[in-house]
Amino acid sequence: MIYDILINMKDLENKKRIAILTGATGGLGYAFIKELVKEHLDEIWAVGRNKERFELLIKEFGDIIVPVCKDLTNREELASIVKILEEQKPQIDYLINNAGLAQMKASREFSVLEIERTIDLNCKVPAVLINYCLPYMDSGSKIINICSASAFQPVPYINLYASTKAFERSYSRALNVELKPLGISVTAVCPSWIDTDMLTKEINGKKVKFSGIVSPQRVAEKAMKDAKKGRDMSVCSFFVKCQHINVKFLPQKSTMKIWMKSIKKYL
Ligand SMILES: NC(=O)c1ccc[n+]([C@@H]2O[C@H](COP(=O)([O-])OP(=O)(O)OC[C@H]3O[C@@H](n4cnc5c(N)ncnc54)[C@H](OP(=O)(O)O)[C@@H]3O)[C@@H](O)[C@H]2O)c1
Repeated sequence: MIYDILINMKDLENKKRIAILTGATGGLGYAFIKELVKEHLDEIWAVGRNKERFELLIKEFGDIIVPVCKDLTNREELASIVKILEEQKPQIDYLINNAGLAQMKASREFSVLEIERTIDLNCKVPAVLINYCLPYMDSGSKIINICSASAFQPVPYINLYASTKAFERSYSRALNVELKPLGISVTAVCPSWIDTDMLTKEINGKKVKFSGIVSPQRVAEKAMKDAKKGRDMSVCSFFVKCQHINVKFLPQKSTMKIWMKSIKKYL
């Protein structure tokens, strides 16, 4: 009995402690890496496709960055992650589902491929990755899913994106309840506009004004703090907190009217 316990402890000692971060090559991903390097992990598995960005990340942060170059919307490439996990058997302290795809345009303008890719990356991939990773997570491990404040209500002209984020938020919060007995928390991060390359800076020759825009660092810092407290939602700014309260009390028809007024000049 004691021998078994000692063997198990030895096993734990030998396991690499890692974080898996998708969207590591993007704006918010970079801010999360800056937070994760403070966590005394052995490795940060940085998932993305942009090889040049990986080289820059390794140059800046060193060998702690392990590039996992995958197109997550490709079924085989996504499935190959489970093989790496089976080979390496790490201890996953953090899984951060951050990769996302957004396009601001009328729903009728989306091709079938664009619809499939957006739903795959924003909905299917986080759900699949979580199930791949759970066997390597323990009590105290944290899952952080990057949703969006657009998940709070229907949003015309960002409809596809906002609807995928509503799925992700709902999935995260219910999963948090399911995983509580295992001591694993799931935090749905719901920021408004973040200053990254994802944002369309100009529409029809007009510079877009993003009310309440925040830095990626602010979102990542707050998300890590909330995840450590085991919170199921992370809302980073006063602007989004007000938005969240508004959508609780106003009918969705009214919140959509307010939104449509604010984007009228770009249509
Ligand atoms: N920016 C905002 O205003 C805002 C607001 C609320 C929520 N968010 C959410 O924040 C998260 C991060 O976005 P961001 O602002 O940092 O955007 P970003 O800079 O455009 O980063 C997007 C990331 O997703 C990865 N990605 C895209 N397609 C992929 C694919 N097929 N396979 C693997 N990785 C893929 C990209 O990596 P590669 O290009 O290397 O593949 C990149 O690292 C997203 O989930 C987004 O929805 C953003």
